[in-house]
Amino acid sequence: FYSVATTVHRNPLFSIISPDDISYFKTLLGERGVVQDALALDAANTDWMGKYRGSSKLLLQPKNTEEVSQILKYCNSRCLAVVPQGGNTGLVGGSVPVFDEVIINVGLMRNILSFDKVIVSGVLVCEAGCILENLISFLDDEGFIMPLDLGAKGSCQIGGNVSTNAGGLRLLRYGSLHGSVLGLEAVLANGTVLDMLGTLRKDNTGYDLKHLFIGSEGSLGIVTKVSILTPPKLSSVNIAFLACEDYTSCQKLLLEAKKKLGGILSAFEFLDSDAMSLVLKHLDGVRNPLPPSIHNFYILIETTGSNETFDKENLEAFLLHSVESGLVANGVLAQDINQASSFWHIREGLPEALMKAGAVYKYDLSLPLEKMYDLVEEMRVQIGPAAKVVAYGHLGDGNLHLNISAPAYDDNILAKIEPFVYEWTSKNRGSISAEHGLGLMKAAKIHYSKSPETVRLMIDFDYCVFELLPDTSCLDDNHSIICLCLS
Ligand code: FAD
Ligand code: MLT
Ligand code: ZN
Repeated sequence: FYSVATTVHRNPLFSIISPDDISYFKTLLGERGVVQDALALDAANTDWMGKYRGSSKLLLQPKNTEEVSQILKYCNSRCLAVVPQGGNTGLVGGSVPVFDEVIINVGLMRNILSFDKVIVSGVLVCEAGCILENLISFLDDEGFIMPLDLGAKGSCQIGGNVSTNAGGLRLLRYGSLHGSVLGLEAVLANGTVLDMLGTLRKDNTGYDLKHLFIGSEGSLGIVTKVSILTPPKLSSVNIAFLACEDYTSCQKLLLEAKKKLGGILSAFEFLDSDAMSLVLKHLDGVRNPLPPSIHNFYILIETTGSNETFDKENLEAFLLHSVESGLVANGVLAQDINQASSFWHIREGLPEALMKAGAVYKYDLSLPLEKMYDLVEEMRVQIGPAAKVVAYGHLGDGNLHLNISAPAYDDNILAKIEPFVYEWTSKNRGSISAEHGLGLMKAAKIHYSKSPETVRLMIDFDYCVFELLPDTSCLDDNHSIICLCLS
């Protein structure tokens, strides 16, 4: 494991779980809701990357909002630290305990409560434990889609997506969850249930507090229900897989795509040749859809519209023009749904390929488009032969996923990456977390992207409005992660 526990200390103000606590929870939730089994706890203590690990002795699985409220009220009165967990696919060490926090997972709260496709078209209201992929399938049958899609869809929960303000593969078209989430229900640290589960498009009565919870990574409360606006499913989806020889061409291609495909463009993803080699090496059954010559960059473009003939011709003409103008070196259009999903598999399979390759240091950055790949190249020089620098991401959103893949976690490699990567990002006025959040990994790095006054206000806000006690296990001088416990 990555050595984080050496840099943080457990806050002695938090209590240790006692047998009386366990009895209380068993009475409240029944045996099923109180998990102490070693194997299940091991999984819940360990994050998706196998990089962060806590030592919680207790996982609680409430079945409804009232139970979540009772759990939090009790933990608060006993000063027991808690960590909310969804599908545990987070990539910044925020979904697992740092020490022995009680893990609260709303995975049993997985009912779809309503879907309104008639009066207010496309409003889905569901419990926070619904798995994203299940929502996608449900909506597919109804002729709608989720405005959000990501590689972790098979495990992540909508409550986790909202709490991380997950971006993903459709943000380019449908925008961030701050736009699509119409309302939510959340339970505060003292057990108060906040009903903000509106389904209205417009509501300017006072502060729109739901936005505080979107992307707050469980630091303000537990999200229990979500209301989300979903777009209708359109009939024509086309996907092209292209190669560019240099990064400038990728940028120009994006600009062209926005101009020429604007209305139907639904994804613009990129990977570099090291990322492609990694996927080909580590994922079974994946092949490069383009002829074997190595290209420096690959781009996946998706269009979604409602006129099959027009949309296809539009994309074909765009590709032809891009090849003729020299922006694109080679390209192929998916001929059927299987080929389309094989293209997506290359892009979506990258996190898994990196895991198979060994240890990975992941950086999820927003950067000015024209500077983005300079960082990758500088990082290669900085790291030397000790590790591979692999780049991919949501180019259409200015979001780079910079990954440093090494045989094992090694403090010498880390010292070459940090603080270099954060300083570089800050100097270029980027964000050190475009979509994954801060978690344990970056809680103390927030100042690279937010001014001291802003951080101060966040902390004052946590103390004064939410009356939260800082979990010093996760804090340093630039503290930001707050544990759910009243002061
Ligand atoms: P978890 O990982 O369990 O938790 C994440 C954070 O949210 C934690 O801080 C946790 O405490 C908090 N939390 C979880 N549930 C709740 C709740 N109900 N109430 C309050 N707080 C809660 N992210 C992107 O943005 N875009 C991507 O394209 C993307 N792709 C991914 C692909 C893969 C293969 C993987 C493994 C991860 C990817 N992620 C991506 C990262 C991850 O943020 C998302 O997978 C997802 O949003 C996390 O949801 P989860 O249910 O797994 O939450
Ligand atoms: C992605 O876009 O694939 C995800 O954000 C996960 C990752 O960065 O590896
Ligand atoms: Zn991403």
